[in-house]
Amino acid sequence: TNDRDRASFMDTLPFEYPCFGLGDYRESAFKIMDANGMSTCDLRYVSHKMYEGKPKLEGLPATFATEESGCSTLEITMYDKYADIEVVLIYTAFDKLDVITRSAVITNKSEKPFKITRALSACVDFDTDKMDMITLNGSWARERAVERCRLHHGKQLVDSCRGESSHQNNPFVALCDNNADEDKGEVFGFNFVYSGNFYAQAEVTQHKKTRFLMGINPLDFEWLLEKGESFACPEVVMVHSDEGIGKMSRTFHDLYRNNLIRGEYKDKRRPILINNWEATYFNFDTDKLIDIAKEASKLGIEMLVMDDGWFGHRDSDNSSLGDWFVYEKKLKGGLKYLVDEVNKLGMKFGIWFEPEMISPDSELYKAHPDWAIQIKGRPLTLCREQYVLDYSRKEVRDHVYGMMKKILDSANIEYIKWDMNRQLSEVGNEVFPPERQREIWHRYVLGVYEMQERLLTDFPDLLLENCAGGGSRFDAGMLYYSPQIWTSDDTDAIERCRIQYGTSMVYPASSISAHVSASPNHQTGRLTPFETRGNVAMAGAFGYELDLTKLTDEERALVRKQVAQYHAYYDIIQNGDLYRLVSPFENDVCCAWEYVSADRSEALLTFVVTKCRVGFTTFIRLRGLDPEKRYQDVETGRIYSGDTLMNVGVNLSRYWKDSESLICYFREVTE
Ligand code: DGJ
Repeated sequence: TNDRDRASFMDTLPFEYPCFGLGDYRESAFKIMDANGMSTCDLRYVSHKMYEGKPKLEGLPATFATEESGCSTLEITMYDKYADIEVVLIYTAFDKLDVITRSAVITNKSEKPFKITRALSACVDFDTDKMDMITLNGSWARERAVERCRLHHGKQLVDSCRGESSHQNNPFVALCDNNADEDKGEVFGFNFVYSGNFYAQAEVTQHKKTRFLMGINPLDFEWLLEKGESFACPEVVMVHSDEGIGKMSRTFHDLYRNNLIRGEYKDKRRPILINNWEATYFNFDTDKLIDIAKEASKLGIEMLVMDDGWFGHRDSDNSSLGDWFVYEKKLKGGLKYLVDEVNKLGMKFGIWFEPEMISPDSELYKAHPDWAIQIKGRPLTLCREQYVLDYSRKEVRDHVYGMMKKILDSANIEYIKWDMNRQLSEVGNEVFPPERQREIWHRYVLGVYEMQERLLTDFPDLLLENCAGGGSRFDAGMLYYSPQIWTSDDTDAIERCRIQYGTSMVYPASSISAHVSASPNHQTGRLTPFETRGNVAMAGAFGYELDLTKLTDEERALVRKQVAQYHAYYDIIQNGDLYRLVSPFENDVCCAWEYVSADRSEALLTFVVTKCRVGFTTFIRLRGLDPEKRYQDVETGRIYSGDTLMNVGVNLSRYWKDSESLICYFREVTE
């Protein structure tokens, strides 16, 4: 007969955690190598339980419940009776947000060890293939460009196998209706709370359905599970929006501000900082830093951050990583003297470390050449003249931590920029047995998390800012430890419009570290007005990164104005709702975005001319306002109804010049 049912395998059915080897030929979430060399596993439902709250994932960053944001958890226990493997799928739904988080814990219940060769965190089988896939791709200094394409048959993958979440692909995917836009349409957003190798794939199947998978990249991943041991898969955050891409982003922002970012600076106002990197690069000493700090304090800047070059004998990026002691030639009088002088000016002091790295030209390397990640007998690839320290090993972490703690104990240091300037290669060490070598990728990331947790435990008031050659580790894993992340090494205001716009798909303004730098810009050579540099940097965790001692009087006045604006607009930008109005990826003349306060009584519009065309005209329509309310443009005094602002817009047609910009603040008028 022509009854194909007898021949149809499991790949017509939706699965929550599909296993390899059972006749579901789509990509699977779980695969093993058991003691007999077999890769098949058949996980079947055993039981489930539901409870209030959310469990912790040991050693991993994850979202958490608070008193205000209740949540409930469903745990489904699955079991393979042949290999004696248990997998618990963990789902948490947040009460007030359209969010479900997922993870899984795998336990070896048998007497024999087995290897996990694939352990993804989430699988969603959609009943349609009519979706677009939005991803954030880029490269160094060009991170998180928004890309959108229609799903098609076969597999569409974004991933990283660089040991970090990467400049190249962010661990984020949105699947949305073909006609979804910022305001309408159904959108499913997925973000991985992890900072290493990841995998995110949409697969359109023969039956025009879509399987989406996200988790640790199975490429070069293995994990040996001995009897009784468990493995926790990092969390995937899943957001649903039926009001377009904008609502998806606002949900991520709310969740991350309230239920991921922790610590002292979760709610506390972040200090405006001056970082000396683009001001001096390696060419600084105590006097130069104090000169910059003096100028900064007069202008209302609140913290000096001493960047790369203060340790070992570091005069360029060719040496000293791993030698975390003061370079006396530069810091005459020592670190404490410098910090005290800066504190006397009423400013905080912050410092740069790159704790995961080791320079061949360092005392640390002379003493412990085997501490670099490496494969014995093979040449090691240098990148920026440095190797990566083997953070999978506790003794390595302990040693580096000891050096860092000594520095932090020696002076009143209130901020750390934790940098990471290369990707991993030749991954291996001489310590682990062959069957555990492939664990190093993940153990490395767990080691980074453990170090940052230790820092925050010992120094609970510390403001930590993560950074990875700019924005190579801008992910939700890092946000659990540091409330702000250096967004990109490209500080050009026009380039930043794109980078920050893309970053805002998932991550809130308060996490997007952004600085006013010099013009011409050091990366692009572009000239931009000082106002525009301020207006763009204000859409993030705000600071400066240029030689303040060289500013003109006019520029100094502008810094004062920007500092005042930053304080005035702090709440609306850091805690308000973001509306992306004009995309720099779709419009080649301008871009615009807006923040609205929770009670819809205030709105802040930023408009930037990214590439001027003479005679171009535009009205910018605001969003998220109350149509019934009346709002005043505080600068011009003009009053509009919310309805007019949202349906007619603000007339911004005028003779704009390249790179000019505008911030308009609207406040509700009641009388
Ligand atoms: C890369 C960072 O992104 C920069 O801001 C700066 O800290 C340099 N590293 C220092 O080497």
